[in-house]
Amino acid sequence: MLSQRFSLTIALVLGTSLAWVRPAKAANPGVTMSTFGKMPDGQTIDLYTLTNRSGMQVAITNYGGRVVSMVVPDRSGHMDDVVLGFDSLDGYLATNPYFGALVGRYANRIGNAKFTLDGKEYHLAANDGPNSLHGGLQGFDKRVWKAREIPGQHPGVELTYLSKDGEEAYPGDLSMKVVYTLMGDNALRIDYSATTDKDTVLNLTNHSYFNLAGQGNGDILKQEMMINADSFTPIDGTLIPTGEIRKLEGTPLDFRKSTPIADRIDADDEQLKFGKGYDHNFVINRSGHGLTLAARAKDPESGRVLEVLTTQPGIQFYSGNFLDGTIRGRDGKIYGKRSAFCLETQHFPDSPNKSSFPSAELKPGQTYHEVTVYKFSIVH
Ligand code: BGC
Repeated sequence: MLSQRFSLTIALVLGTSLAWVRPAKAANPGVTMSTFGKMPDGQTIDLYTLTNRSGMQVAITNYGGRVVSMVVPDRSGHMDDVVLGFDSLDGYLATNPYFGALVGRYANRIGNAKFTLDGKEYHLAANDGPNSLHGGLQGFDKRVWKAREIPGQHPGVELTYLSKDGEEAYPGDLSMKVVYTLMGDNALRIDYSATTDKDTVLNLTNHSYFNLAGQGNGDILKQEMMINADSFTPIDGTLIPTGEIRKLEGTPLDFRKSTPIADRIDADDEQLKFGKGYDHNFVINRSGHGLTLAARAKDPESGRVLEVLTTQPGIQFYSGNFLDGTIRGRDGKIYGKRSAFCLETQHFPDSPNKSSFPSAELKPGQTYHEVTVYKFSIVH
């Protein structure tokens, strides 16, 4: 009680929001639901807040299946929200670069906004120069998902959505279920599953923007990154993979050893110039299809560590190069260049046009199932 009152006083003195004050030691795990806002057509959108027994909280909205906040402790027990976002639905309805979103039908880019499947050419919306990005104009990030809360020790929310044949020009009725579960060990687990009634392509990811120092708390350049990859898929000037799988050794993109993001981000390197920093797909070192450590980020200052584990073959490390200070997010914070990074687990970009990449096709009778875990811990 005394320590709670003490941290409350500190929070007031520092002017930080009361919501992020260290919670009581053993929190009550579960799910609470509240109204997040209204769609332009009047439909109510909800917010599901998951709490685990150590007080970590993750809020998820059924608008775009988005992770709205992740509140985790630093090494002194202080709670901060470590993802960029907005206080209410209106922020998400306005233009923003996929904050926290569940992205599909094809996350990342498809070159020249077209692909051929079973001999038929499909033409997608070109919403990123000549390319199609993150599922087109009305991707899954802008759809209203059906939600069901999962109470208990491992609180969760189950989201379902039927993407109709022809939606954003992709073939097949695609029936999806995505379950977010907050585990006791401060890990957010995401289970993606889907089936289709026609051959299609599918690439689902979560597009959370992390700043381990707390959202809106400066840039991420002093934070350290480790990526469990010996090679990556180099890109052209429009950020489409060339098809090559290139070794990372000797390049400024080699993160096999944990390295501050700042160290080489502005190196004189064609790949970094194309990405305006890091914006590349890394080929995860793995044996078999199980959950494998893909990346580990660390903020030496707060002591927060984020590990990303996944069943997917690739991970996009995007260093927030296109954030430009024009978006004002949660608590009025301004999101400047490189004020967050994304670690998007995925199939390789442009796989539908690259026969040498792992296939991103889904056929009737098959079930797509991928898992990604964002796990937080502390170093002292
Ligand atoms: C892409 C970036 C893009 C960002 C927001 C990331 O997945 O790799 O190039 O700017 O999404 O759209």
